[in-house]
Amino acid sequence: MSNLHNKRIVLIVSGGIAAYKALELVRRLRDDGAMVRVVMTQAATQFVGELSFQALSGEPVHRDLLDANAEAAMGHIELARWADAVVVAPATADFMARLRYGLADDLATTLCLASAVPLLLAPAMNQQMWQNQATQENASTLAARGILSIGPDSGLQACGEIGPGRMAEPAAITTALSQLFATASMAGRRVMVTAGPTREAIDPVRYLSNRSSGKMGYAIAQAAVEAGAAVTLISGPVALHPPAGVRTTDVESADQMFKAVTSGIDEIDIFIACAAVADYCIEAPSAQKRKKNDESLSLTLTPTRDILRSVTTRPSPPFAVGFAAETENLVLNARAKLEAKSLDMIAANEVGGPGLGFESNENELHVLWNGGEQRLAKAPKDLIARQLISLIAECYRRGHDDIH
Ligand code: PMT
Repeated sequence: MSNLHNKRIVLIVSGGIAAYKALELVRRLRDDGAMVRVVMTQAATQFVGELSFQALSGEPVHRDLLDANAEAAMGHIELARWADAVVVAPATADFMARLRYGLADDLATTLCLASAVPLLLAPAMNQQMWQNQATQENASTLAARGILSIGPDSGLQACGEIGPGRMAEPAAITTALSQLFATASMAGRRVMVTAGPTREAIDPVRYLSNRSSGKMGYAIAQAAVEAGAAVTLISGPVALHPPAGVRTTDVESADQMFKAVTSGIDEIDIFIACAAVADYCIEAPSAQKRKKNDESLSLTLTPTRDILRSVTTRPSPPFAVGFAAETENLVLNARAKLEAKSLDMIAANEVGGPGLGFESNENELHVLWNGGEQRLAKAPKDLIARQLISLIAECYRRGHDDIH
């Protein structure tokens, strides 16, 4: 049964062209068993008819703050109390600005102020408006207050421009909402996560490494603990505090990570390889600091052992989830890795650009498994991690239900 079954969702639709996608969102939420009440801003009614939302939600649409009839039936305070979660989709630049400043001059903003339940925004606007410093500051301030957001996605916009500003797809918003109600989806599971970079010594003071900060892997470990799992984290060198309740082993090189994983893997149900493990190490690291001279320097690199493959080729491997960090042909390359490494699931992660993947606070994943796939729209890494853990728990459960 979906986490959204019998959950009460207030959907606020603000006035942007993406408002038509909110119709699909209502349908998906209802399909998952949620009860949905729709609030439209005045501008939203210019884009989509109230009747369409009424027909899909099966409930009257709420519009006016000072409508005596509506207030008598279910006014803004009752609506705020009724909701288990509030989602704003699309959330326009104007709506986000008004939310930031605590305005309460219409039903939608008043309801947000009066509500104590989780609030999820799905921003949608012209790419320049999204990237404008004012909007970015508003988004950061709202995030710092604990308001969740998903997206926006990048791509071709209704105005003809290309860039970030498209509303996250209704399927992704539904998954994010569902995640808010996930309870102990990994209770009793033993999960191992690898995170961060590895460092391959050139000499005692120099090394080869990469840009991984560990943020994604640490968020996954945290999300797995929240979902009830017993979590072991094998971490390369990062500047993060280990999440509470996680057994953490710090390593430096790919070889040390291999050994730490191998020594504990027999006890593990689910292995998630998020670490950016060096593919090569120095064949003969120098015991002393190399002296500088005017000659060019050649270092011989030898391949490291593939930790993930060593796990999936064990006689009884755990459920194995890999990551694919790609700068091109994201899905194609990830699918090849899913097969080559005999994985149960892979999270394709576009890297190399700003704002996603390595080092950033946000990420976007395309998750593939045998028989399915799902995009997790751009969102803070902790939210992406919770969605990924939800998907893994679901696939793991399905695999075991099929077997038993
Ligand atoms: O740490 P952050 O700054 O938050 O950034 C997150 C991230 C971008 C590092 C993360 O989301 C990510 O994509 N991690 C995988 C990086 C990577 O090494 O990808 P790959 O495509 O080169 O490797 C494929 C898979 O094999 C990965 O699961 C990797 O952990 C694993 N691998 C690779 C080499 C090796 N020797 N052993 C392995 O287990």
